[in-house]
Amino acid sequence: MYRVIRIAPEKGEELRRKAILGGFLDTTRKIREVSTEKGNFLEIPVTEAAYDSVDGFRIIEQENPEFLEKPSSLKKSLKSFLSEAELACVPAGWQILGDIIIVDIPEILENKKIRIAEALLLMYPKCRTVVRDFGIEGQFRQPKRELLLGNGTETVHKEHGCFFKQDVTKVMYSKGNLEERKRMSMLGEGEVVADMFAGIGYFSIPMAVHSRPKKITGIEINPESFAYLEENIRLNKVEDIFVPICGDCSKATPEGTADRVLMGYVGTTHHYLEPAIKALKKSGGILHYHETVPESLARSRPQERIKKAACKLGKKVEILEIRRIKKYSPGVLHVVVDARIFK
Ligand SMILES: C[S@@+](CC[C@H](N)C(=O)[O-])C[C@H]1O[C@@H](n2cnc3c(N)ncnc32)[C@H](O)[C@@H]1O
Repeated sequence: MYRVIRIAPEKGEELRRKAILGGFLDTTRKIREVSTEKGNFLEIPVTEAAYDSVDGFRIIEQENPEFLEKPSSLKKSLKSFLSEAELACVPAGWQILGDIIIVDIPEILENKKIRIAEALLLMYPKCRTVVRDFGIEGQFRQPKRELLLGNGTETVHKEHGCFFKQDVTKVMYSKGNLEERKRMSMLGEGEVVADMFAGIGYFSIPMAVHSRPKKITGIEINPESFAYLEENIRLNKVEDIFVPICGDCSKATPEGTADRVLMGYVGTTHHYLEPAIKALKKSGGILHYHETVPESLARSRPQERIKKAACKLGKKVEILEIRRIKKYSPGVLHVVVDARIFK
């Protein structure tokens, strides 16, 4: 059965928006004008989910439904609303976290941003919100984002068997670090681990869930990220092994106890190398040291910095691996160095 809600034309737009946000607009059929003896109406095509989502509207069966061609891309679905020049600037990618779509829309499309958000929601019926991204700022890694459609910016993102609750307008979540999050989930079994830049638990939650270290201490300086870290520890049921600390990791990281230290932060990470090495057991351990570095220096500068800090503390270094995580900006890589520190 094909269902529609018949509505006065002037109320059609409001209902169409409600149906998009509520996930019950049937995007396979056209919105149609009909004339009956009671007047002119719009027929908004809806799915069965409309019964649970709208009150006060009568859902009726539609005769002779007209179908739309399913748009295969965002550009195609916006073809009739945007000029050729505007279409050329339509974003080619976006990030989905839980039921939220995060998209970078160029300035030239400012007055088309809601149309773009609607088209995205129609492509992903399980999503409820679209936010526009303006990048990440400062030490706390706070995103600048604008809510375009929907009303909630908090979501639970599921990845690799873990839950990450977050407010996408308050904390970051890097899509480029996916492989590293998976890799961390395979390390640390039975060990004592310190995550110096824990965020909402990007690396240490997967490790806690899948490898079950003896103990993980996660230090986070941003109180908003820290609140989500605490919540994610509960959501993922790792309270028995996970100790969160709100503070500056250069002062708050426990000394002399860790087998492994995670340093998942970029920009000034090298300033934290000495506290990281001090966090390891006296006999030594493993560092996962992140750095953003010009491509030509990727194999030299990070390891030189680790060796310099270790030497100052009378320790030796064996470089185990240098991995490229992602391209950070033109000519600059985000790398992670695995290093063994020993006496
Ligand atoms: C960039 S995030 C981690 C992102 C992660 N790599 C990912 O996959 O998205 C790093 C976190 O370190 C925190 N941070 C920065 N400086 C810190 C410090 N001195 N002590 C503790 N946490 C710090 C930031 O607030 C942020 O939440």
